[in-house]
Amino acid sequence: MPGISVAKCILIIGATSGIGRALALAIHALPSKPTVVVGGRRRARLDELAAQGERFQTVQVDVNTDRANLKKFVQEITIAYPALDAVIFSSGIQHMFDFKKPEEIDLDKVEDELNTNYTSIFTMTTFFLPHFLKLSAEGKPSFIIPITSGLAVVPGPWVPNYSATKSAVHSLALSLNAQLADTNIHVMEIIPPLVESELHDHQGMTPALSKVWMPLDDFTKAAMDGLLRGNVQITAGFVNLNWDHFEKGKIEKIREAFQRQNHNMRIESS
Ligand SMILES: NC(=O)c1ccc[n+]([C@@H]2O[C@H](COP(=O)([O-])OP(=O)(O)OC[C@H]3O[C@@H](n4cnc5c(N)ncnc54)[C@H](OP(=O)(O)O)[C@@H]3O)[C@@H](O)[C@H]2O)c1
Repeated sequence: MPGISVAKCILIIGATSGIGRALALAIHALPSKPTVVVGGRRRARLDELAAQGERFQTVQVDVNTDRANLKKFVQEITIAYPALDAVIFSSGIQHMFDFKKPEEIDLDKVEDELNTNYTSIFTMTTFFLPHFLKLSAEGKPSFIIPITSGLAVVPGPWVPNYSATKSAVHSLALSLNAQLADTNIHVMEIIPPLVESELHDHQGMTPALSKVWMPLDDFTKAAMDGLLRGNVQITAGFVNLNWDHFEKGKIEKIREAFQRQNHNMRIESS
């Protein structure tokens, strides 16, 4: 499978901080000199990033919105950047919920987390696919790169909805991978461990977590290595152990099951 160095124009949604920002800078620095379109809600952060390199482009976007707005966003991006051949979904939020205090669970926050972390990604992927399928028919590769989490593999009970949204994206990535296996569209799932970022700032958890998280530079090196190799799943740190234990061989089994299902459907309809 080709790696990210063949991509000419990469959109990173959620590039204003943390992992998305670090990947944007690392990808911009590649010798292949891609255009890097950085997205997120905070305009000042986008402008700060854009000032760091001439091939940065910016797009202000809030993915926690409805289907019509996401469709408009994807249409405008693919018109503005017809060479767009990779999307990294780095946008994400995280909330803690305590089931022993159900009256304190804010269901609006649950819905925002589900929409930001999962539904918007499913929806945007659906809207990006006609563009990528067209590239594929022209013999050109493209990349769909969701960022899930080690908590997609083994949930963190303190962040139950977050873990469920990440499991959902993980499952989606496996299905996309199987369904698109005979196209030139490549799905690479990044599965980070706890990494230095702003994700936990609003929970007041950053001081404690900063003692154990993976430094952002170390994680970025590991993620870039996987992206350049074209790895279908990219893990680092403690996630490597859980991946070995729970995920090894799964993707191959899913592809086989999908091929069997297609074969059976062909027999039934003939
Ligand atoms: N750090 C970790 O320990 C860790 C571990 C596993 C997985 N991850 C995943 O890695 C990804 C990046 O997170 P991070 O750790 O780098 O956290 P971060 O520093 O908080 O970055 C999150 C990014 O998501 C964007 N975002 C959030 N809500 C958005 C919205 N509604 N619309 C558009 N963009 C939105 C933010 O931009 P704006 O606020 O400007 O919109 C920001 O750029 C997330 O998917 C996260 O779940 C992180």
